[in-house]
Amino acid sequence: MNQNQQSLSVRDNRTGDEYDLPITDGTIHAADLAKIGKTEDEPGVAVYDPGFTNTASCRSAVTYIDGDKGVLEYRGYPIEQLAENSTFLEVAYLLIHGTLPSEQEYTAWEHDITFHTFVHENLKSLMLGFRYDAHPMGMLLSSVAALSTFYPEARAISDEEIRRMQVIRMIAKMPTLGAWSFRHAQGKPYIYPDNDLGYAENFLAMLFKMSEPKYVADPRLVKALEVLFILHADHEQNCSTNAVRSVGSSQVDPYSAVSAGIAALYGPLHGGANEAVLKMLRRIGDVSNVPSFIEGVKDGNERLMGFGHRVYKNYDPRAKIIKKAADDVFEVTGVNPLLKIAVELEKIALEDEYFVKRKLYPNVDFYSGLIYEALQFPPEMFTVLFAIPRTAGWLAQWVELVDDKDQKIARPKQIYTGDRGVDFIPRAERWA
Ligand code: CMC
Repeated sequence: MNQNQQSLSVRDNRTGDEYDLPITDGTIHAADLAKIGKTEDEPGVAVYDPGFTNTASCRSAVTYIDGDKGVLEYRGYPIEQLAENSTFLEVAYLLIHGTLPSEQEYTAWEHDITFHTFVHENLKSLMLGFRYDAHPMGMLLSSVAALSTFYPEARAISDEEIRRMQVIRMIAKMPTLGAWSFRHAQGKPYIYPDNDLGYAENFLAMLFKMSEPKYVADPRLVKALEVLFILHADHEQNCSTNAVRSVGSSQVDPYSAVSAGIAALYGPLHGGANEAVLKMLRRIGDVSNVPSFIEGVKDGNERLMGFGHRVYKNYDPRAKIIKKAADDVFEVTGVNPLLKIAVELEKIALEDEYFVKRKLYPNVDFYSGLIYEALQFPPEMFTVLFAIPRTAGWLAQWVELVDDKDQKIARPKQIYTGDRGVDFIPRAERWA
């Protein structure tokens, strides 16, 4: 194909005018479309795309997904290899910096993150002020937003060193804030970080430590949590990342932008899905009820939570790895009785025409809730466990956004469907 063919010819049948729109990287520019049919009185053609199902909002070199083939890569590295061989902190470095760290870089990175795990005591007081039964995601998103008031210099987003500092602080403090939101609902004292421990083990210690002088976690559970963190670290332009980029495009500080991402992740169609999966499994209650539940899904009365994905039209590669991690965790904790129901649901759904036709496969959330429950987390904590590692991805995307000269403040168009030029009727007349 020669260069001249890298374009789209469009004829506007309203006027007979013809346009040649360049195609770059498989996309046309919305600004080129806007030239079609544009007059002094009328705007040009725009794209109507609720949910951005076919709109690229940025160029990104962070994460690659091929949804049809079930491929996920961070900076070009397959997720399977990273989950098998890497640590979460190494993956976080890779996402943020674009390359794997040298030994020296890794040591410095690990030291910096470990050094910044503590939070200001006033932030602790703020968290203590939440109601006894506050949802930990509400606490997490508020406390991350509050961090912006502790580091006002974070507003200088064009300063590379200041940006680097906030990236380190946020990745470091997320487990502390997440663990404290968990302890809060249990009425237990908040546990300070133990900087002798690695990232995942330190998190487990802040969650579960009681009176023992030193918390020691089972290394199999630490490894499983590392794998879960790696799998959740980024997923290109999903709802929460889009929220971080959209809010970040106003040039607000990264704490405020990331708290918008946490808010988006809180929703049941995004990060809240694994909590919804467990509720669903409990409602089904027994393997014998699976067929009638599936019928309910097909009739449109139910939704099979943990199934389907906007991008994956194949088995989510993360779901495969999670299934393996589940086996490792159950070896330590004993099998979660809901697993039987989940396995049966998956078996029936993968053979049923309704799911096959719509290419609905298990996603990352289908099995993760079962692991989290086996690790003694209440369902409200599941999304917190997603938000902690995703912070690395949000920040990698935010750094990319800030450096991207193409980016502008996010401001979609609308198709106005309301009335026009309506004369105001004073209250006395309307209410008479
Ligand atoms: N159960 C039953 N039917 C479904 C499901 C499901 N889980 N997901 C999609 N469908 C059907 C849907 O009803 C529609 O059918 P029809 O064409 O007859 O109207 C068709 O499949 C296409 O679905 P859609 O809602 O247009 O697809 P979407 O891309 O807008 O939604 C989704 C993607 C993830 C929101 C959706 O599949 C869903 O609600 N799944 C359950 C919630 C869930 O597990 N979410 C976690 C997503 S993975 C975590 C993450 O990366 O954030």
